[in-house]
Formats: sequence, C-alpha cells, structure tokens
Amino acid sequence: MDDLQSYWDKSSSTIPTDKDPSNYAIEKEKNFPKSAVICDLGCGSGADSLFFAAKGHSVKLIDISEVALERARTAAEKQKLSSLIETFQCNLSDGRLPLVSSSCDVVYSRLALHYFRSDILTQLFSEIYRLLTPAGNAYITIKSPDDAQEMAFLRSTSDEEQEGVFLEGDYVKTRFTQDQLKTMLNAAGLADKTFQIKKYVEYFTGKKDKVKSGNAELVLTEILITKP
Ligand SMILES: C[S@@+](CC[C@H](N)C(=O)[O-])C[C@H]1O[C@@H](n2cnc3c(N)ncnc32)[C@H](O)[C@@H]1O
Repeated sequence: MDDLQSYWDKSSSTIPTDKDPSNYAIEKEKNFPKSAVICDLGCGSGADSLFFAAKGHSVKLIDISEVALERARTAAEKQKLSSLIETFQCNLSDGRLPLVSSSCDVVYSRLALHYFRSDILTQLFSEIYRLLTPAGNAYITIKSPDDAQEMAFLRSTSDEEQEGVFLEGDYVKTRFTQDQLKTMLNAAGLADKTFQIKKYVEYFTGKKDKVKSGNAELVLTEILITKP
C-alpha cells in the first residue's frame, strides 16, 4: 500500500460513520434526472453517494481509500442499497478514471479535487467530460483561495510551492483561482460554453460533518460542466 493511500485510510477512519449528506448533495440532487447513473469522485465514506442511492440513483463510488469504500459498502448494506452502488479503489493522481466513456448522467465531486497539481487536474477535467453522457452534467466543488479563514489555516500548516499549490509535508493541496481553473478546463478541451465557474458557500451548522479547521462555513469554487 502506498503512502497516499495510508494517509487517506487514516483520515477516513476518523470520519463519523453517521456523517450527514452535505447540503451541496441535497441541493444538487434536485437537478439530477430520475434513476440517474452517477459517479462520485473522491466519495469518502459515501454519505452523499448513499443519499443519492436512497433517491433511486445508481452510484459508482471512486476513492483512493479502501477504508472509506468499505465503510460505504457496510452502510449501503445496512440501508439495503447495495444493489445501487459499485465501488472503485483508484488513485486519481494517475489522471485516469476507471469507467467507460459516456456512461454517467452525472459526475459529482465534493471537496476532493483540490489535491492535484494543474497538469493532473486538467487530465481529470478531460476524463470527467469523457464519462458524461450527452446532456450529462458535472457538479464539482473545490476549496477556494477566496476563503480567508481557510487560507489562514492552510498557510499555518503548509508552504506555498507556486501560485495556488501548497505542500503540507509531502501532500499537495491546491487553491486555484477561477482564472487558473478556466485555463485548465480549456486545456482539457472544454469549450467556454460547456462550463461555468462560480463561488459557492456551503454551511455546516447542524450537520454531523466538519472540516479540519473547524470553520462553520466554507467559501468554495463550484465548477459546473454540461456536455452538449
Ligand atoms: C475531504 S474528503 C471529501 C469526501 C467526500 N466527497 C465528502 O464530501 O465528504 C476527500 C476525499 O478524496 C479522496 N482522495 C484524496 N486524494 C485522492 C486520490 N489521489 N485518489 C482518489 N481519491 C482521493 C480521499 O480519500 C477522501 O475520501
């Protein structure tokens, strides 16, 4: 097992097993087609994926952490949702996704794509687009450099290697600007009219969920992609 997987296995084992689905998942699911095929990239222990499955969608869960995926499978079994989920242990740093082209109505990724330098993130954007069916949509949030509190916390635990790329020991965390993300999406082959990049604020108050900094709200960047 490599160091990155051990790091995320350890981190995943600290997440409460009864973590609530996120406000982002609850809000975005309202736009999903009925009985959609969803890919949840960096799904963690599956709180959002299982919320989607409980709504009747089929979900492909992708994460590097086998601990997280095992927790998701166990929770799915308890909730009698096993037939609606499929798990894939995969390191997204390889820049490839283990699913066939045009196989997902929705690609969803919450707080999991800010761990990759721009070259890999560009490859992942291109892979996300490849997976989408025609008229399919991707809903993505990542951490933003516009969140002053989170940035202060990040600067206290890491060193900035280059604009938007931070190193916490050996581990990469990114806070790309909207302009940097637009450049990557274009480099991934996505035309301007196929994506939007926006500010999105997510609130944690009253949720069995939290971020390491302990902040009650996050100022995020949302990336929405629509395949024509
Ligand atoms: C902050 S958690 C977010 C989990 C979940 N999406 C949520 O909203 O609670 C980040 C997730 O990304 C996964 N992850 C980080 N780096 C990864 C990589 N290189 N390949 C695959 N998954 C990765 C971690 O294992 C973790 O489950």
